[in-house]
Amino acid sequence: MMATSESEEKRSLALSGHVGFNSLPCQQVNKLVAQGFCFNILCVGETGIGKSTLMNTLFGRAFENEEASHYEAEVKLHSQTHDLQENTVKLKLTAVHTVGFGDQINNEQSYKPILDYLDIQFEKYLEEELKIQRSLVNFDDSRIHACLYFIAPVGHSLKALDLITMKKLESKVNVIPVIAKADIVSKNDLKILKRNIMNELRSYGVQIYQFPTEDEDVAEINSAMNNCLPFAVVGSTEDVKVGNRMVRGRLYPWGAVQVENEDHCDLVKLREMLLRVNMEDLREQTHARHYELYRRCKLEEMGFKDTDPDSQSFSLQETYEAKRKEFIRELQHKEEAMRQMFVNKVKETEAELKEKEKVLHERFEQLKRVHHEEKKNLEEKRRELEEEMNAFNRRKVAAETLMGQALQGCSQQPLKKDKDKKNFFSLPSACSLTSGRNLN
Ligand code: GTP
Ligand code: MG
Repeated sequence: MMATSESEEKRSLALSGHVGFNSLPCQQVNKLVAQGFCFNILCVGETGIGKSTLMNTLFGRAFENEEASHYEAEVKLHSQTHDLQENTVKLKLTAVHTVGFGDQINNEQSYKPILDYLDIQFEKYLEEELKIQRSLVNFDDSRIHACLYFIAPVGHSLKALDLITMKKLESKVNVIPVIAKADIVSKNDLKILKRNIMNELRSYGVQIYQFPTEDEDVAEINSAMNNCLPFAVVGSTEDVKVGNRMVRGRLYPWGAVQVENEDHCDLVKLREMLLRVNMEDLREQTHARHYELYRRCKLEEMGFKDTDPDSQSFSLQETYEAKRKEFIRELQHKEEAMRQMFVNKVKETEAELKEKEKVLHERFEQLKRVHHEEKKNLEEKRRELEEEMNAFNRRKVAAETLMGQALQGCSQQPLKKDKDKKNFFSLPSACSLTSGRNLN
């Protein structure tokens, strides 16, 4: 009796909701959606090849399009950021493009500013990672996730500049080659151009980005798309009338090229691959492959190692100490070298000064001799002049004496007529002259 009533009291409760950890992916998705995503594209291509137009076409946005001149002294990079939103998903899109690429007389170093730019973005991320208080979730990640390399549609294949630049970029970024302005090449020529480009890339060992085929969901489409590389694209910012519809395209006297028509170009394929199917893989490859390589090289350069030759793992403290000692040793070497240099410089300067002093001393002695000589000459002249002066004075005294005597002689003569007397007193000079003549 008792057992029956107990079983009657038991009730079975239905679950009010799902119990389990299989909601974890949803939690992660919600968290990531709330944080938002970022995607950074780099467009590398010659001036006027259609970079800005393609970005505008791909994202349906009017990116700022300032025409670059063909006279840039060096290659520069220009970036623009747009905040986009599709339903609840926010995307911070940064488009970076080259300015003046391929315009220099010597293009040997054209790839360098691009590599430097990529390294600077890696460096910023590494600096944040190495901070004591790091905040990678809120970090403004500017590492480039995809590089669209614009190939000119003219010619039979790639230019040397294209090959060299793509080779340099392959270890730093996911390179996706595209044939720009594909509407100016015939269908047949385009096919040949694509084949030549891929053959050349293969024979020079240039690694371009391959759409991943490991994931079953995308394996089929990605392997088909890998065979379509390089994508032949057409860009346009205008809508043209085709039948009764307005479509994005380019209008020519013989018809319209519709950029979203897969028979006309590969723009839709590029958009699908870049944004819808492989955006996350591009982001992941950037972090796991390219950034990881940069980080490893940089840390090794800084002296960090995971293991020593005997496979003993290094602690951070040991590495730091070893690096510090090495740095102090280097500093001491530099100090010693500088000290030696300073001593040598002082010795050199001292020798120079001594030489100058000797020259000055010789000059002084010479001047002293000249001065002595001149003084002696002057003394001589002074003596001569004094003698002349004395002689002159003696003559003067004699002349005065004679004149005095002459005057006395004149005054003792008897006075003649008044007229003569008058003349005599009124013209003493005449008298003196007369007396002088008389004397003579
Ligand atoms: P810079 O920023 O000055 O280096 O040029 P850019 O590479 O951004 O080229 P931009 O997009 O400014 O295009 C240059 C010219 O090419 C413009 O007149 C465009 O209309 C034209 N253009 C762009 N895309 C295409 C295309 O797919 N086909 C053709 N035929 N012309 C295009
Ligand atoms: Mg532009």
